[in-house]
Amino acid sequence: MGRMSIPMVGFVVLCLWTVVVEGEYMKYKDPKQPVGSRIKDLMKRMTLEEKIGQMTQIERKVATPDVVKQNFIGSVLSGGGSVPAPKATAEVWTNMVDGIQKGALSTRLGIPMIYGIDAVHGHNNVYGATIFPHNVGLGVTRDPDLVKRIGAATALEVRATGIPYAFAPCIAVCRNPRWGRCYESYSEDYRIVKSMTEIIPGLQGDLAAKFKGVPYVGGKTKVAACAKHFVGDGGTMNGIDEGNTVISSNDLFSIHMPAYYDAIRKGVSTVMVSYSSWNGRRMHANRDLVTGFLKNKLKFRGFVISDWQGVDRITDPPHANYSYSLQSGIMAGIDMIMVPENYREFIDTLTSLVKANIVPMTRIDDAVKRILRVKFVMGLFENPLSDPSLAKQIGSQEHRDLAREAVRKSLVLLKNGKTPSQPLLPLAKRAPKILVAGAHADNLGYQCGGWTIEWQGVVGNDLTVGTTILAAIKKTVDPSTQVVYQQNPDANFVKSNGFSYAIVVVGEVPYAEMFGDSANLTIPEPGPSTINNVCGAVKCVVVVVSGRPVVVQPHLAKMDALVAAWLPGTEGQGVTDALFGDYGFTGKLARTWFKSVDQLPMNFDDSHNKDPLFHFGFGLTTKPVKGNY
Ligand code: BGC
Ligand code: BGC
Repeated sequence: MGRMSIPMVGFVVLCLWTVVVEGEYMKYKDPKQPVGSRIKDLMKRMTLEEKIGQMTQIERKVATPDVVKQNFIGSVLSGGGSVPAPKATAEVWTNMVDGIQKGALSTRLGIPMIYGIDAVHGHNNVYGATIFPHNVGLGVTRDPDLVKRIGAATALEVRATGIPYAFAPCIAVCRNPRWGRCYESYSEDYRIVKSMTEIIPGLQGDLAAKFKGVPYVGGKTKVAACAKHFVGDGGTMNGIDEGNTVISSNDLFSIHMPAYYDAIRKGVSTVMVSYSSWNGRRMHANRDLVTGFLKNKLKFRGFVISDWQGVDRITDPPHANYSYSLQSGIMAGIDMIMVPENYREFIDTLTSLVKANIVPMTRIDDAVKRILRVKFVMGLFENPLSDPSLAKQIGSQEHRDLAREAVRKSLVLLKNGKTPSQPLLPLAKRAPKILVAGAHADNLGYQCGGWTIEWQGVVGNDLTVGTTILAAIKKTVDPSTQVVYQQNPDANFVKSNGFSYAIVVVGEVPYAEMFGDSANLTIPEPGPSTINNVCGAVKCVVVVVSGRPVVVQPHLAKMDALVAAWLPGTEGQGVTDALFGDYGFTGKLARTWFKSVDQLPMNFDDSHNKDPLFHFGFGLTTKPVKGNY
């Protein structure tokens, strides 16, 4: 043996100590062993209780270190808005996650728990994190590399809070904008959704070609990803959330399934099952698709996770017959159950089902092997605790610049000038006096939408750190330009003030699942009256902040210009970058923009798609202009 330095000797001794406990060589703890051998070794040591514990995911509200220890809990999550304290710092987060982890590590076998969170447009539950545009805007960019970089930035911010697992991306193909989760979908076109699975190697790291199709997470600065919601979530009848997708298997496989092939090929670690049904059958109970197709046919080797109380919702009303639901869900092939609170009931019920030979041990073993595979592959056994040096990643300037780039590329210019020869955009930076109007101009919460700080989103500017569109306008115009802001000015005020032009920012108010379905898709008041009052009196550009196309046709003639900004997130300067010509508009609609809701559903590939207001792929362009003018 060559000469070793003192610290090196110390390191080797430490490694030996952790893999050799009381004289016994613990093969599963040895990172030099192949993953398969580690799984096998650990599996043969585990009791039924420990195995069922691995399959249990509980909410942080009930996850004390002791509960995790006593019940051998395998996973903990933060639900939407579930944080250790309001405006918690990275340190508060890592203390909580590490504390829970220490509970898991203190069990007999010391299997680390995996903590998961919805980081669906950046690390969106966390104060001060960079909030990227929601997927509906990212689809517009047609830029998979950009989305990959967003994944990498998000992974760093998530890891900064000690968390190694994100419930993202949502690869739904939203086929009806009435659906309140349409903004979580990149496009109505599955080809765009497929290309945006590049966010997976962004989040997890690049899978080496020889490993194609196995779950992969490239170490401490990457996170396990989750392709959701399997499958057909975006195809429900009338766009009803958690509804019924009534389509042929040909349509299911050609529209809603393709992105799963890409996700798996790129090494996605987990797949979340959809609340929705396919032709009347709950996906959480669909053994043909979860086991038959996803696991057997596509050879997915990571773990399948249920949605929040997704198993309970197999029956209507939910939880009407838990034992039956659990049996159906587990036998369908779900490996980890997002319980999330009543873990005793889950553990006891599943234990009885196994003891009664209703759920075979082979099914439990399949589930646990998959969960352990992901934990081993990602290095969780070697690095179960947080890395404090990552704290500075949260909301870093580099990530904010990336988000700003994404915002400007996600804008779609739908109209520019009452006639093409009189374009209003790019706007002049140097003008004596301009008007900014609309409730969405100065509201960071509106700009971010649902799944931001709170589950359903927040109203106002105090929720987190960011730049509103109004603040961005003030930063962009010439210092000599007077910026007047009124939310909903009356027409006389607008007429009598000699404004050079107006920027009107209106749209939807935040919503998320269960509360976002809309039958009429109109812009809520005072949006339409603000458009009327302002655009009738002065040249105006209207910026619509919304999670989907909304009814604009009745107002269109009054507007000089119209921009769809979707849900841009914290970096409002991405909007002004294009409005004022520092960059050109490049975005192309990734959704069909309807005239009236009677046309819905209307998608680019429907035979009856004859008369949209703006067709799929539409988007005017402008050229960047140099200097201050
Ligand atoms: C949503 C999922 C989410 C989960 C955890 C569910 O209600 O459908 O998308 O990942 O909650 O918050
Ligand atoms: C949680 C969400 C979850 C939802 C499901 C909420 O209370 O915060 O994360 O998705 O319930 O119904």
